[in-house]
Amino acid sequence: MFIPNTSFEVLEDAKLDDISLPAFMVSTIRGFLPRMDPIVTLPQEFDPVEDLLQSMPVLTHSGRPGFLASGRLGDEVEKLPDLTEEIEKYHNNLPMMNALYRDYSFLASAYLLEPCHMRFIKGEPTGFKPFMEYAGSCLSGWGANIYYNALFNYRLENPDRGLEYDNLRLIRAFEHGLDPSSSEAGFVLVHVDMVKNSGPIIAGTMSALSALHDRNGAEPAVQRETFNDGLRTVLGAMRKVNGVMETMWGKSKPRSYTSFRTFIFGITSQSMFPDGVVYEGINDGKPMSFRGESGANDSMIPLMDNLLQIQMPETPLTEILQDFREYRPSNHRQFLVEIKHCSEDLGVKDFALGIDSYRLARTDEEKESVLESRRLWIKLLDQVRDFRWRHWCFAREYILKQTSHPTATGGSPIVTWLPNQLQAVMEEMVEIYGNIGGQSGPAYLGEECRSIMDLVSRQRDMLRKEVDKYCQERGVSARG
Ligand code: HEM
Repeated sequence: MFIPNTSFEVLEDAKLDDISLPAFMVSTIRGFLPRMDPIVTLPQEFDPVEDLLQSMPVLTHSGRPGFLASGRLGDEVEKLPDLTEEIEKYHNNLPMMNALYRDYSFLASAYLLEPCHMRFIKGEPTGFKPFMEYAGSCLSGWGANIYYNALFNYRLENPDRGLEYDNLRLIRAFEHGLDPSSSEAGFVLVHVDMVKNSGPIIAGTMSALSALHDRNGAEPAVQRETFNDGLRTVLGAMRKVNGVMETMWGKSKPRSYTSFRTFIFGITSQSMFPDGVVYEGINDGKPMSFRGESGANDSMIPLMDNLLQIQMPETPLTEILQDFREYRPSNHRQFLVEIKHCSEDLGVKDFALGIDSYRLARTDEEKESVLESRRLWIKLLDQVRDFRWRHWCFAREYILKQTSHPTATGGSPIVTWLPNQLQAVMEEMVEIYGNIGGQSGPAYLGEECRSIMDLVSRQRDMLRKEVDKYCQERGVSARG
């Protein structure tokens, strides 16, 4: 199916066996997960890379300490043969290129950040200090370590059981992640477990957009019902995603996070790499910089932001949000752009809030149908709030309370960036709820929406106070 008025196709069949297509393509079946489960082992000619990756983690699969436990990875990487020609042989096999990308960028991250890890385990000052042992030196490698490696880093222990959480294992790990009960495994696999529910988010979005696009001929009441059904599907899936997100607390412990996190830092806005990194033989020897692995590269929340037309403030912090949107597979990036335009062109928000439709409605049924769109809209915004609020709680417990390092793995300022977007969603909810008169009177939206809005008003105040407190303690400006 196509996004209305565009040539962008959303797959309804994941085309599992087609290796000429990229691994990451949006579909209503697999959502934002790769079209097929990731390739686990590289072909034989890459055995030196495979061997190195298996011997790399702090704790290897065999239970013995690996190279990262003693800081020997750097020397081992220097011994790797140049396999560029072997890589070229696979340039038509795009899922294989993805597996190679995953594996080489795992090595690249570990190579670059091994010195940080060694300082961390020696108990040297928390918060990284600028140092250039590897940073200013040269790195043969390609690509930055991005979030999509996480989504291409799971295998099924028992293929018949599919994507059940207990059946998921990591393919590659830095620290203890090959043990599925470790915090490193939990951190990555909860992401996979959430994104597994993204198919219906896409399917529901497409139905809602199509309902507006195919206006001609459809009865207005039928059209609104179809639109509402689409929003209901998205809402159901977002609730599941948020429910799974809550399991993070038990699957990955806040106190363990800072140790494996060392390896997922990027090389943008980080004191360890003040001038970026030189990729030998690339970019005329000039340093390059990339953001690190971050859930900010995930596509579910950006899809909600674009579909729901959530207004972000014009701040330098929002520019970082836009920059994160560049770090995703090109098919996902284009999908998000087309959804944004389509939602605006079709006037999805105006239709959902139905100011005119409510005024002009002739029957109670028609009025009720518009009120239902409004409820669904508020509830969807609430799912985005819920996600971002939990996320702020993660940042507080896993990061702010554990380290004074001022930037997150993706290079955003840790105290102010997440609140920038969270506060924006809550402002939007307050504004909409007020404008449509949802709190009382004939357009009253009911108890559930009222409780949601009560919570929003408490959280808005709480967030402001918390951010002010952290800004004061750390001497940073609230604008980032
Ligand atoms: C312990 C758990 C987590 C922690 C500590 C954490 C931390 C962070 C941090 C610090 C950022 C700021 C961006 C940056 O990296 O520079 C971020 C952004 C983000 N992360 Fe996470 N994250 C966690 C789990 C997740 C999960 C499970 C998802 C699910 C997909 C996720 C999705 C996102 C998104 C969408 C953003 C962008 C936020 C926005 O648009 O407002 N994160 N994360």
